Amino acid sequence: MLNIQLNHISPHPPYYLQISEQVRQAISAGVLTQGTRLPASRQLAIELGISRRTVVTAYEELCSQGYCVSHVGQGTVVAKIPTLQIEGKIRMTRGFPQWLSDHSNICHSQSNDPGKICFTPSLAQVNFLPLKVMRQAFGKVLQDASGLGHYQKDNGNPALIQTIIKHVLPARGIQAEPDQVLITCGSQYSSLLLSQLVAPYGGGISYGVPGYLDIPRNFTLRGLVGLPCPVDAEGVCLTEAACSARLHYVMPEHHFPQGVTLSPSRRTALLQLAQEQDALIIEDDYDSEFYYNRHPLPALKAGDMGGRVIYLGTFSKSLFNSLRLGYIVAHPEIIQRLVEIHWQFSRGTSLVLQLWVTELLETGLVDRHLRRMRTYYRHNRDLIASHLKQVFPEWGWQLPNGGLQFWVELPQHTQAKSIIHGAAERKVGLWSGVQSYECHTQEAAHRLILGFGALTPLLIEQAFDRLSGLSPIP
Ligand SMILES: Cc1ncc(COP(=O)(O)O)c(C=O)c1O
Repeated sequence: MLNIQLNHISPHPPYYLQISEQVRQAISAGVLTQGTRLPASRQLAIELGISRRTVVTAYEELCSQGYCVSHVGQGTVVAKIPTLQIEGKIRMTRGFPQWLSDHSNICHSQSNDPGKICFTPSLAQVNFLPLKVMRQAFGKVLQDASGLGHYQKDNGNPALIQTIIKHVLPARGIQAEPDQVLITCGSQYSSLLLSQLVAPYGGGISYGVPGYLDIPRNFTLRGLVGLPCPVDAEGVCLTEAACSARLHYVMPEHHFPQGVTLSPSRRTALLQLAQEQDALIIEDDYDSEFYYNRHPLPALKAGDMGGRVIYLGTFSKSLFNSLRLGYIVAHPEIIQRLVEIHWQFSRGTSLVLQLWVTELLETGLVDRHLRRMRTYYRHNRDLIASHLKQVFPEWGWQLPNGGLQFWVELPQHTQAKSIIHGAAERKVGLWSGVQSYECHTQEAAHRLILGFGALTPLLIEQAFDRLSGLSPIP
């Protein structure tokens, strides 16, 4: 029997592919045998509540692949399937499951051409990590292996939690108790835990666009309704529909990629709204350590009297991206629920990493590194600003107050992709702003993100040398 189930959750393969795939599986599993007639396209279309054309396309697909044959007046029937060839060439090929082939959700990164200078967003500079001291600290952790042999179902290593409470959170105005903290594998992973927690309850999640869409996507992929909102000079601006959202994802200090700071009045309004609507706010504080013109405002979590804010912190920028260590600060009950999910997902967070970072924090290494990098990044930011003015005077941008990227608006007649193409020919990697939008709008087509975290002054000079005289390539 043919029992087609359509997946309506977006993003999903088009319906016709879902149908053809399920028929193909039924044939391969022997559920549908040679000569079995598939349901009439009209009948199946009515059953599934979709257009007949979609079913016809699915059947055509099956016929073109040899799984079915179709004759006028006789409908579509299962064909004679050739037996699996296990000798020769086919045996040598590496199989890839058809059902995994829909990968529209995957964002491909740029090639790793060693000679290319890349303005990759969201990366921190690793050239200045105090490696000698970091090695010593790691050696100290490994002096005693007792305790390393267990999984630990808890909210993180107590020493690291205490150190974060004492040395990290105060700089953001946050006071927390140990049971309000969970150590995770970074903010992206934290959002995955949260999405798993809230998915059964459904509802909507608001977020700013252009924005960092990888986090809200974790929620919409689990069935929450995405409620994109515009972003202006005061930060994200909730639409009427978004006001009733169950969750609000915000980056109050620097909204990515524009770098705007959520204004004090919007902060108050958001906290009030969350209280009134029984909603939660996810505060992604991913790079507030890097400020250049003024100290950052306290985190939203610092003024969270009603316990509505779930704060996401990370060591990706203060140390390095591949460390994969972050933390959540939230209501103890939320933390408890997340501990369970974290346990199911990964049996906790690496203990060695936690102990190592505790050492780095306690010896003051992280603070010293941050102070140094703030100066360094400010210098790089100013260097890029002066080159942009000189080389591309017609490009629009605001000097970022903090963070690690420029958000560039190209003139109306200039498409970002042509600039990116031209730059790539000169071995410079530029990033399109398109990934920060939900669809390819006119506005998105004219935006670039210039990340400078991973670049050195020398590379910045060289990149602009290579780019000078660049004109858009159609
Ligand atoms: C805005 C923003 N939020 C979250 C993340 C993810 O951070 P993590 O490396 O801790 O997963 C990034 C990554 O660069 C980011 O740019």
